[in-house]
Amino acid sequence: MIKINESYLKLQASYLFSDIAKRVAAFQEANPEMEVIKLGIGDVTRALPKACTEAFHAAVDEMATDASFRGYGPEQGYDFLREAIAENDFKARGADVAADEIFVSDGAKCDTGNFQELFGTDIKVAIPDPVYPVYLDTNVMAGRSGDFTDGRYENIVYLDSTKENGFIPDLPKEPVDLIYLCFPNNPTGTTASKELLKKWVDYAKANKALILFDAAYESFITDDSLPRSIYEVEGAREVAVEFRSFSKTAGFTGTRCAFTVVPKECMAYDEAGNAHSLHSLWNRRHCTKFNGVSYPVQKAAAAVYSEAGKAEVKELVEYYLNNAALIRKEIAALGYDFVGGDNSPYIWIDGKTDSWEFFDMLLNKAGVVCTPGAGFGGCGQGYIRISAFNSYENVEKAMGRIKEALGK
Ligand code: MLT
Repeated sequence: MIKINESYLKLQASYLFSDIAKRVAAFQEANPEMEVIKLGIGDVTRALPKACTEAFHAAVDEMATDASFRGYGPEQGYDFLREAIAENDFKARGADVAADEIFVSDGAKCDTGNFQELFGTDIKVAIPDPVYPVYLDTNVMAGRSGDFTDGRYENIVYLDSTKENGFIPDLPKEPVDLIYLCFPNNPTGTTASKELLKKWVDYAKANKALILFDAAYESFITDDSLPRSIYEVEGAREVAVEFRSFSKTAGFTGTRCAFTVVPKECMAYDEAGNAHSLHSLWNRRHCTKFNGVSYPVQKAAAAVYSEAGKAEVKELVEYYLNNAALIRKEIAALGYDFVGGDNSPYIWIDGKTDSWEFFDMLLNKAGVVCTPGAGFGGCGQGYIRISAFNSYENVEKAMGRIKEALGK
């Protein structure tokens, strides 16, 4: 008899964003005349930078003749991309990351979801609340949690991010082995200073723990005093793995390209306490289960680092940040408390009512899709997340409709 992995039975409902998509589709079917404005899932709406599409086209042409055709590439990514990343994203900011510590992949979602495979099922995992659901769900699937009772999985250490702590979680009160951090944060949009990250790095070192640092939104940082990489913090190379993505930075949500940095100093331990290189383990896993990102996509990603690409990406990010500024202004005028949106494409709003009710109200009365905060965890209850990924015109229209729906 074929048996299932029963950990899957512990999962709550469906994946948050599929759940929302279903509700929106049902609404749209019932209201075909309504033009729904999506400020829910962080999906970019603007075209890829020209530098990227040009490189993409040229690479496709290379595939069209036998002389320049390429078959399987290196699983870890082509050197031209890994070197451009190391140089521009890290060395240029004083962070010590070598090209061969970079693993190119098809998404930070997959990498943040998959990385936990390297660890024992009996480790203690610390996960922020609210959180990007992938970190939690993949640990539940792997069998690291107990049952879901009173709104939380047993055996997971939740790191509350609330108004009281400025939406920045405190260090865990009990020892943990694996810590997920995301800055600029999804969903709250809050950021972390070097001093704050140093506290987590020191904690990880003292506890032989590991930090999985999701920096998918680093390109939205406008405050120069903030670190863009955890490797700008001393000691992080020994205890942190970092995830990055071209999705939000350069509009690659549909094109798919991301990367994970695994420094050679990073270790995890066996039962006897012997250290093992995470770089070697991830390389082993990556080569076994992944065959690399397509050559044209890697060429398109590398073009992000050309002079033209850098200018276009800057303009793209500024465009969405300008949307975020408009959302902030309008939400403030409506009298709601919020955080985020200045170094992040997400604005986290205290809706002062049930998250899903607020979501339904915005959808039904304004035809605007947001993300209910409760979908990101118990601490998100009462909040909604509004994303700045849409056209300025649509954001303007959405804010006008929200104002009207609220009778203001
Ligand atoms: C989000 O809206 O939180 C993200 O777009 C989801 C993702 O990147 O997978």
